[in-house]
Amino acid sequence: MLDKHLLQRRYQRHIALIGLSGTGKTSAGRLLAQQLGRPFVDTDVLVEQAAGRSIAEIFSSDGEEAFRDLEAAALTRAIAGEPAVIATGGGIVLREDNRRLLRDSCWTVWLKAALEYLARRVESDTSERPLLRGGAAARLAALLAEREPLYAAIADWSIATDQLSPEEVSTAVARCWREQQAPESLWVTAGNGCYPVIVAAGALDLLSSMLDSLGISGRCWLISDDQLGPLYTEQVVAALPGRRVSSFAVPSGEQSKSLEQVSVLYDWLLAGGVERGDVVLALGGGVVGDLAGFVASTILRGIALVQLPTTTLAMIDSSIGGKTGVNHPRGKNLIGTFYPPRLVLADTRTLRTLPPREYVAGLAEGIKHGIIADAGLFADLEDSIQALLRLEEPLTSNLLRRAAAVKVDIVSADERESHRRMVLNYGHTLGHALEVAAGYGTLLHGEAISIGMELAGRIALRLGLFSQAELERQRALLRSAGLPTRLPAGLTADVLLAPVGLDKKRQGGSVRWVLPERIGSAVVVDHVPLDLVREIVAEAIEESR
Ligand SMILES: NC(=O)c1ccc[n+]([C@@H]2O[C@H](COP(=O)([O-])OP(=O)(O)OC[C@H]3O[C@@H](n4cnc5c(N)ncnc54)[C@H](O)[C@@H]3O)[C@@H](O)[C@H]2O)c1
Ligand SMILES: [Zn+2]
Repeated sequence: MLDKHLLQRRYQRHIALIGLSGTGKTSAGRLLAQQLGRPFVDTDVLVEQAAGRSIAEIFSSDGEEAFRDLEAAALTRAIAGEPAVIATGGGIVLREDNRRLLRDSCWTVWLKAALEYLARRVESDTSERPLLRGGAAARLAALLAEREPLYAAIADWSIATDQLSPEEVSTAVARCWREQQAPESLWVTAGNGCYPVIVAAGALDLLSSMLDSLGISGRCWLISDDQLGPLYTEQVVAALPGRRVSSFAVPSGEQSKSLEQVSVLYDWLLAGGVERGDVVLALGGGVVGDLAGFVASTILRGIALVQLPTTTLAMIDSSIGGKTGVNHPRGKNLIGTFYPPRLVLADTRTLRTLPPREYVAGLAEGIKHGIIADAGLFADLEDSIQALLRLEEPLTSNLLRRAAAVKVDIVSADERESHRRMVLNYGHTLGHALEVAAGYGTLLHGEAISIGMELAGRIALRLGLFSQAELERQRALLRSAGLPTRLPAGLTADVLLAPVGLDKKRQGGSVRWVLPERIGSAVVVDHVPLDLVREIVAEAIEESR
């Protein structure tokens, strides 16, 4: 189960960089802060600001002890502030109190470098480093001998920096920091910052502390829809003690993904006095996530966005990856932005009130994730599908987290649409066509995708990619989840293929298709003969009569 306190404590911790002068604490620290969306604090800068003098001046007029007093006060202040990346002075570890503060309140990284390298780096600017005057190399060796055991005693991790650029150091530290987080969290690394994705029963209880740890202190604008709003608004407000929360519920359903609804939300936010430091909380399925995300990304040129997904589809798919948007009369999702949320917090307890048909439809995307990228997930879904349908915990959070992890991985490698992200469209070409052909709303998206995967699987089988046994495993899992694999009756090939431009008007030729080569791996195939697609569709229509 979710260890709330452990998770909370880990997120709230500061990241402190320790080590001798010249190891790159400031430059790597600044980048790291940017990467993690946290403030950057440098204790030397705090000391200078407090004293109104440079460190060299403090040393020469008042001596080292006076500097150490100021430094200790600066560290205490930094630690009392919001979770930050803290670069510290090389001698901060000399005092026992500082070491205790660093050990208790920070994840501490020791930046190391070879003596010769440090000597070269600091020789040029000893004016800024009073303790190194008079033979940098010799003084450094003495400092290192004195401090090394102290650094080692409090460091949670260390990294040699002399062969690395500041970017490489900050990326390595960020990676390690993420890895030592609780296993409940995944991380999306997007171009402009990274964000945690937490899938757990009870995750909503973490909302307030997570906002704290992300440095989001402004007013909360909670957007939901009129079906789940009444069920969860109170709980979310209660999870945000001491914060100003305003809430708004849009009508539930796809028709709310419109510019009219965007405009209604702009009016609400502006009339209420929305400010740059505020946050939009998108509580709901993909509709609310896409709509509220679009609004957050454009109001005041963008304010913080937190996704609180409440459908299976939103938890493992739509809330991850930063796509927001609304529909246009000419088509779905034609207007939108790429706008990463600051946090995705998926509380699997909310799935208990989700209509079962919606719950199951979302699982189609999870099965898809198993097929395209994670054979182990697929096998575990086969073993545990009944327990998953009963929403047993911790099984449900564990499986949904793994399904979310596939999307996290793919979009982290490739935030904007391109090759790798394309495999997420497995089952979607005919799936989308089917949604349109059957009439929107007749089949849920996941149901259409399920049938789309069956058809794509058959194409893969005919092309010698997928085996008969694998196609049958896919079908069996979809069916035992309660998903359809047969076309609804009454469709014709032309009606089905027209929405994807593959009807009779287009003769011969080939099309690009995402196909499984085995369970756990999908590829983009460039030359799937159009005739083969038509043949498979015709067969499936025949079976549906
Ligand atoms: N941004 C992306 O990358 C992305 C990816 C896939 C899909 N989408 C979009 O997602 C949308 C579909 O999302 P969806 O399937 O989540 O549908 P949805 O948001 O319409 O939610 C389905 C229904 O369930 C209700 N509901 C949601 N959570 C509930 C809960 N916990 N308890 C009770 N009722 C609840 C809603 O009110 C709604 O009626 C589409 O608009 C699609 O375009 C976006
Ligand atoms: Zn989909």
